[in-house]
Amino acid sequence: MHDDTRRRLMLASAAALALPPLVARAQGTKLRLGLMLPYTGTYAQLGVAIENGLKLAVAQAGGKLGGREVEFVRVDDESDPAKATDNVNRLVTRDKVDVLIGSVHSGVVMAMVKVARETDTLLIIPNAGAGAATGALCAPNIFRTSFSNWQPAYPLGKVMIERGHRTAVFISWKYAAGEEAAAGFKEGFTAAGGKIVKELYLPFPNVEFQALLTQIASLKPDAVSCFFSGAGAVKFVKDYAAAGLKDKIPLYGVGFLTEGVLHAQGDDAEGLLTTLHYADSLDNPRNKAFRAAYTKASNNMEPDVFAVQGYDTGLLLAQALDKVKGDLSNRAAVVAALENAVVDSPRGPWKMSRAHNPIQDIYLRRAEKGVNKVVGVAWKALEDPARGCKL
Ligand code: BEZ
Repeated sequence: MHDDTRRRLMLASAAALALPPLVARAQGTKLRLGLMLPYTGTYAQLGVAIENGLKLAVAQAGGKLGGREVEFVRVDDESDPAKATDNVNRLVTRDKVDVLIGSVHSGVVMAMVKVARETDTLLIIPNAGAGAATGALCAPNIFRTSFSNWQPAYPLGKVMIERGHRTAVFISWKYAAGEEAAAGFKEGFTAAGGKIVKELYLPFPNVEFQALLTQIASLKPDAVSCFFSGAGAVKFVKDYAAAGLKDKIPLYGVGFLTEGVLHAQGDDAEGLLTTLHYADSLDNPRNKAFRAAYTKASNNMEPDVFAVQGYDTGLLLAQALDKVKGDLSNRAAVVAALENAVVDSPRGPWKMSRAHNPIQDIYLRRAEKGVNKVVGVAWKALEDPARGCKL
């Protein structure tokens, strides 16, 4: 060996010895969480609740995950799919986040899924239910802590049949979440013997419901089922009552209809029956402690399903990062930790499916004086069919 080569090798090994081991190095740097959520527009309060829930879980873990301090990098995605690719690329390429967290809107999340797959960035979805994320486009680095659009809509069909409704109209916004919720509802409703007489749509996030409500009145179905959320859900419930339909054609919904908006909907929401993977009144100590801690930490805001999903994202990350001692570079170990986690959630404990989507109970709830009260379990341990997922 040349003297020069030997000297370079000696210098290199001395430098390597001077470096702390990989795990210690990983623990020394902050963990950068890239939050891509809506902070403006019809879903703004959903984004805020997710962030509050996530931050509560991190605070309860002592402000650290896997021994690493946490830094949040935030982007307002405005629930605008047209801006989503630029937004997610900024987080991955410019801000170099360790984990992507987002989003609320199914169209926006599809851009996140694409970039996460291309760059192999870890993505945790704390709301958007787009079926493909844990279906045809499922991937080892993509996990969801919320639901698939099919999941809470499917049991609603059986619930409505059991209440004697044989025909229904489904109404929603025309984008993936509305259309996939319609498909899930239709599957459950027709399997139980029902018939959908019409699907009605308007563009997201329009709230000019009048013409469609007039159609519902003339179609005279036994009942109406719907998917709306956020500010649009407030307007829909109020307009449905103002059109004189509430007492004539019973309104049901995928549970987002009354999540976080019951106070704004007031009496017009009283008695509405919905299906969802959470209910305010769930009688378990975990939920009670979570609700008290969230209200205290978030300026007296009341938690809802979106806050729970953000919180569970924090619980999941805390568990997985503890397992790998903060070292995300061992991807196989990180994925195994996320896959095997049992999340002790306010909604009840849940685990990931093979496709990385929660297997969870879907509750039937009734809106009563500003509270989504549990009526029963509409479907026990429901797993999304994950059609097309090759994991
Ligand atoms: C979605 O776009 O996937 C979605 C938005 C709000 C509530 C639930 C789902």
